Amino acid sequence: MSLKACIYDLDGVITDTAKYHFESWKWVAEQLDYDLTEKQNLKLKGVGRKESLDKILGWSKARISEAEKQNLLYKKNQMYLEQIDAMSPSEVFDGFKAFNAKAKQAGITVAIGSSSRNAIRIIDKLDLVLDFHAIVDGGMTPNSKPEPDIFLMAAEKLQIAPAECLVIEDSQAGLTAAKKAGMKSVAFGNDKGLKGAQLQIKNWLEADLEKFNSIF
Ligand code: BG6
Ligand code: MG
Repeated sequence: MSLKACIYDLDGVITDTAKYHFESWKWVAEQLDYDLTEKQNLKLKGVGRKESLDKILGWSKARISEAEKQNLLYKKNQMYLEQIDAMSPSEVFDGFKAFNAKAKQAGITVAIGSSSRNAIRIIDKLDLVLDFHAIVDGGMTPNSKPEPDIFLMAAEKLQIAPAECLVIEDSQAGLTAAKKAGMKSVAFGNDKGLKGAQLQIKNWLEADLEKFNSIF
């Protein structure tokens, strides 16, 4: 068994969109007379849009109709898109492009596996569209993370067996999804509470292809 594919999460792994999500979810919470904290926002990492609203509704104990839910989801996304559309390639995390180029040079195939339905728009804003062999986003599979569907579809598109894929993820939902997919994983970022990964790196400057290979 060897490392044949890297499947990257997008939000929080390639760029920081959590701050933009937070602003728009905070607005949603305000409509429900609720004050969303940054700590709660962390719990929305990797969680799909609809599932995130369900969590906020649970915390706020607000009861709203299905039509109101749809309306809030729509407005939340419009606010988020305004922020996304102002993003630029300078927002790609330091060291990512260099690591990805090195991985490809070593013959490793690379894909994005993101829960976001806005993934392609963000990748376009970051000018990374041509940097991956496949992109799977939250609109392409019936189940979002922590279910394995997104990563399994990415492996299928790359034509690599799940056991030879390495997922790089900053969220618990994503690490759980990787495990369910039968893939190895690297936890990304400073969160010491992340479980299930074979390795953790704080940022891309710490990424080491040989270390990643040694997991297999
Ligand atoms: C994940 C983010 O990647 O995508 C979550 O970590 C977000 O915070 C989810 O809710 C869905 O994103 P979007 O762009 O479809 O609303
Ligand atoms: Mg993420």
